[in-house]
Amino acid sequence: MADLTTTYLGLKLKNPIIASSSTLTSNVDNIIHLEKNGVGAVVLRSIFEEEISLEANKFIEHAVKDGYDEGLFDYYDKKVKQNNVEDYLKLVKDAKAAASIPVIASVNCKSNHEWIYFAKKIEEAGADALELNMFFLPEWSKRTVEENEALYFDIIKKVLAQLTIPVTLKVSHYFSDLSTMLLKLSRTGIKGLVLFNKFFTPDFDIETEKMTQNYVYSSPQDIALPLRWVSILSSQLKKEESNSCNIVASTGVHDGEGAIKQILAGADAVQIASTLYLNGYEQVGKILEKLESWMDEKEYKSLADFKGKLSYQAGENAEQFERTQFMKNFDDKDIKN
Ligand SMILES: Cc1cc2nc3c(=O)[nH]c(=O)nc-3n(C[C@H](O)[C@H](O)[C@H](O)COP(=O)(O)O)c2cc1C
Repeated sequence: MADLTTTYLGLKLKNPIIASSSTLTSNVDNIIHLEKNGVGAVVLRSIFEEEISLEANKFIEHAVKDGYDEGLFDYYDKKVKQNNVEDYLKLVKDAKAAASIPVIASVNCKSNHEWIYFAKKIEEAGADALELNMFFLPEWSKRTVEENEALYFDIIKKVLAQLTIPVTLKVSHYFSDLSTMLLKLSRTGIKGLVLFNKFFTPDFDIETEKMTQNYVYSSPQDIALPLRWVSILSSQLKKEESNSCNIVASTGVHDGEGAIKQILAGADAVQIASTLYLNGYEQVGKILEKLESWMDEKEYKSLADFKGKLSYQAGENAEQFERTQFMKNFDDKDIKN
């Protein structure tokens, strides 16, 4: 029987399927369910800096209206924040107590000071690792590209200085020079890179002429972008002997085939969210079954036997990863009328 174990962030995982950070990992019952269905690890839903500061701001607005003593602001500001943080820390503690798989906490912050406050507390609550969910929309009116990118390094440095648990970084593909940025990030001391996050995207309702929310789930076709970049980065990291940064694929893995593709590209593990919402927790078992039967069929004994086999340089067609134009691949006869 094929050995599905993998090592991610120095943690031994019984298999490479990780439940991504989402509302499905926001309570202990779900986490137990996910574990029973076979996931190798869970990433808890993120605690968002925004939700914390919003609540604090709401309180301050009231306080101003009702004529509270200004001196109390600090106290209540801290208190509101503390309550939210306490709830999250309880989730970390309870998840750790109830599950035997690794529990990775997740923080989403927008500034370079709030992260540090949460990160330390999360470590103390017993999380096995911390995933930094970082994204600053590269919008020219707020920060220059240089300032935007510098923020990543600044935050990572401050978090790493505080923590002893491994830190992994979940990023988007919105960088001016993606390859260089990923490589530089992998050299900061973080133990993993999650490629890539999928974001809330706005849409318009043309009847009401109002903004709406776009479809939140990925489709299996969305695997294409992370697949290319996992292939490119894994091949580069292999050349750097001292660089032990793991790669985790995220977005568009919906089935066993998707998971196999990402490991062939060089991923140490894969994260799944949309497929759990769309197909239920049982999908984990189906993914594992497919992975195992495919490995048996190919006579692969462990993930290492095929990990990175189709990475950028290992593959026969490295130039295909660089190709971006359709050229003569398609013509009129491919269009269905
Ligand atoms: C409903 C929902 C909630 C999510 N919440 C979070 C979150 O709190 N933190 C985070 O880093 N990613 C969050 N994500 C993103 C997922 O972790 C994942 O990166 C994304 O859905 C792409 O993976 P998929 O194609 O397997 O869905 C959320 C996704 C969904 C659909």
